[in-house]
Amino acid sequence: MVTVALDAVHNLGGSAAPGAGARAQVHIARLNLTNFRSYAALRLDTGPAPVVLTGANGAGKTNLLEALSFLAPGRGLRRAALPDVARLHSGTAAAGWAVAARVEASGRSVALGTGLEANAAGAARRAVRVDGQPARGQSAFAEQVSMVWLTPEMDRLFMGGGGGRRRFLDRMVYGFDPEHARRIAVYEQAMRGRQKLLRDGAGDSAWLTAEEETMAGTGIAISVARLEIATRLDAAIAAEAGARVRHFPAAALAFEGEVESWLADGPALEAEDRLRETLAAARARDADAGRALHGPHRSDLVVHNQDKDMAASLCSTGEQKALLIAIVLAHAHLLVLSRAAAPILLLDEVAAHLDADRRAALAERIIALGAQAWLTGTDRQLFEAFGAHAQIFEVNAGTAVPIKGDSP
Ligand SMILES: Nc1ncnc2c1ncn2[C@@H]1O[C@H](COP(=O)(O)OP(=O)(O)OP(=O)(O)O)[C@@H](O)[C@H]1O
Ligand SMILES: [Mg+2]
Repeated sequence: MVTVALDAVHNLGGSAAPGAGARAQVHIARLNLTNFRSYAALRLDTGPAPVVLTGANGAGKTNLLEALSFLAPGRGLRRAALPDVARLHSGTAAAGWAVAARVEASGRSVALGTGLEANAAGAARRAVRVDGQPARGQSAFAEQVSMVWLTPEMDRLFMGGGGGRRRFLDRMVYGFDPEHARRIAVYEQAMRGRQKLLRDGAGDSAWLTAEEETMAGTGIAISVARLEIATRLDAAIAAEAGARVRHFPAAALAFEGEVESWLADGPALEAEDRLRETLAAARARDADAGRALHGPHRSDLVVHNQDKDMAASLCSTGEQKALLIAIVLAHAHLLVLSRAAAPILLLDEVAAHLDADRRAALAERIIALGAQAWLTGTDRQLFEAFGAHAQIFEVNAGTAVPIKGDSP
């Protein structure tokens, strides 16, 4: 709802209590799905409280979170190809799909919609709408709502390639700087354009220069924003590290790479010149490699478990999950402090990995943040710690039915 420049992050202190100040309570008030995976048609009305989705394996819990995740920039939490999420029925896929939501904050309301639609020529394309009007791009969603997720696939986030870690950090940046999503789209488009020119052996260096100019300008802005948020998250977690009772590990974050080392050396404008010159000098090597070997897409989020003095990648599965939760909670806390609104959290099967103490601590933090967290699990008992604070739905065969009463 509120557009705040990245500068607002500078004003963050570490001292305010979680949830201090006026709350905008950004939440999904209504969700409508049409032909989305296992859902032919679904309408779900929800209040600002945390939402718990329970149901058997294959009931459609993750599909519902995935649908919500399409209301953030990108391809959703499974990174699916757009036609793949269209509902398959009797072996036939629906021609299109749609996810629509009414987002509310402090009495203001906005309608977000996306999906795969056939245009006049019959070709399928992604639609992005805000209040019924076509939006300039997916960054329009980031201006309205901040969304961060944790999924079982992310249990290997610290082990796999840097792309997953960059996307995880980028989702957190969107909450402070929605333009970050557009810059990434522009950077990636320029990088693909440059690579195509190199592949085609185009001697037209004016075109190459133009693409490299775009990569340098947007690339440095991307790195600056990532560095800023990684540093703020690191400081926020460090500020809490001395707390008497702490259920999630102290994660140290750093965003590292060639471009970031240039930014540490001198002003951003100099780094921009350096990236432009480096790209120009690397054309032959990049043509051979089939990809750009320099730029912010090569940098990485490095996480260290301070409690164990161990790289995140060397920690146990449960410890890595706890590190991710610590980071997501710190991010939500920072957003509450700076924008007075917690992000929407999509936590797929997170509770199942936590012991009872940590489950209780997670519930307590989510409630204190005032975040509309969407949590899934096969077993209702896992969410007992939310008491009467959660809205519980039983998911089954394309439906989600509210469960009355708060004791399982
Ligand atoms: N395009 C599609 N069309 C129809 N059904 C689909 C499509 N894609 C996936 N499904 C089905 O949706 C069902 C629900 O999947 P989902 O991942 O949401 O289950 P879940 O409730 O999260 O289960 P689990 O507890 O095992 O994680 C699965 O049976 C899956 O096969
Ligand atoms: Mg699931």
